[in-house]
Amino acid sequence: MGAGNYDAMCAQCHLAPGLGASELSKGLYPAPPNLSKVTVNPAAAFWVIKHGIKASGMPAWGMSMSDDDVWSLVAFLQQLPRLDEERYRQLVAGSAGHSHGGMPTAGGTQNATEAHPDDEHDGRHGHQRMNEEHHGAKR
Ligand code: HEC
Repeated sequence: MGAGNYDAMCAQCHLAPGLGASELSKGLYPAPPNLSKVTVNPAAAFWVIKHGIKASGMPAWGMSMSDDDVWSLVAFLQQLPRLDEERYRQLVAGSAGHSHGGMPTAGGTQNATEAHPDDEHDGRHGHQRMNEEHHGAKR
């Protein structure tokens, strides 16, 4: 479940099997760890994904994602360093794409990795949960 969200929201900075350093991953300081190479502690990763890291490039995703969606990402991170490119692509394609908030990406699995960033990254499209849980929490 976490694969599609990882590919849409995290891989630009944290990379993926078969994905070389990106402009973002090279340009950020402190540098984002390559999560396709290092395994992170699940509890620490959950906190960091939810709350972000102050004064770094690491955003807080808890504004737009439920705890369950964050845990799905944490679970995926435990597998990620063991995946080759083919397996990574399979998992991304087999997940519901950029799906947190209960809105599968239009066009389904195939397009999830190719969709334009403008459609994918604002984290606001059609989020019912955001309105329910995070009303007033937007920055
Ligand atoms: C714009 C770039 C960017 C994006 C997008 C991003 N991160 Fe990060 N992330 C960072 C940076 C930079 C750090 C390291 C900050 C530091 O060392 O102080 C970091 C740190 C982390 C860490 C802590 C790693 C450790 O060694 O403890 C985790 C886990 C993490 N990110 C997961 C994610 C996940 C999951 C996503 C997608 C939902 C994501 N990040 C999206 C830039 C990003």
